[in-house]
Amino acid sequence: MSNFNQLELSRRELLISSAATVVVTGTATGSVAAQLSGDDMRFSTHVAFTVNGDRRELEVDNRTTLLDALRENLHLTGTKKGCDHGQCGACTVMVDGQRINSCLTLAIMHEDCEITTIEGLGQPGNLHPMQAAFVKHDGFQCGYCTPGQICSSVAVLQEIKANIPSHVTGDLIEPAKLTAAEVRERMSGNICRCGAYSNILEAISEVGGIEA
Ligand code: FES
Ligand code: FES
Repeated sequence: MSNFNQLELSRRELLISSAATVVVTGTATGSVAAQLSGDDMRFSTHVAFTVNGDRRELEVDNRTTLLDALRENLHLTGTKKGCDHGQCGACTVMVDGQRINSCLTLAIMHEDCEITTIEGLGQPGNLHPMQAAFVKHDGFQCGYCTPGQICSSVAVLQEIKANIPSHVTGDLIEPAKLTAAEVRERMSGNICRCGAYSNILEAISEVGGIEA
């Protein structure tokens, strides 16, 4: 009998405790719901930026990467999705003159930015010198990494010209050097599974005026 009473007590305590838990949890859930409901709950955002000289306006899911916005929303499929994790460089584009892995940044972070993709560098019949050099030097096999390689190459030469240091340059006192070693280091984020590296370096060297 005494065991039964203890059991009853335990059950009563358990019910009280559960009710309290429900109240607390319910309050917390209600508060989250209050935060996430109403006019403030927005899953998409309007963003406007310039792509290859054209003003583009989009309503995108907040989680859309710049890469997906370019490819899926704007149908600029020259920019490639390789790893989608910032490790291969296939998605490299230039934003306000600086190269960036477009898979690692959200489209809505680039309001009013100037974005340049491979399509904006040049077109058949009017190639950018770097595109022409890649063709001339066979700087690709399958070509999947190539748009990212070319965008990166163009930005690399600009970085060196602007004296932006790299791990090779090493310090902030010596000016950045336009050497093959410097270019190799700066291009190390662009992976080519076909192994066209030596030809890619030849192409960049020609455009940059480096003795290969
Ligand atoms: Fe962006 Fe690989 S797809 S780094
Ligand atoms: Fe095929 Fe680079 S050309 S991955």
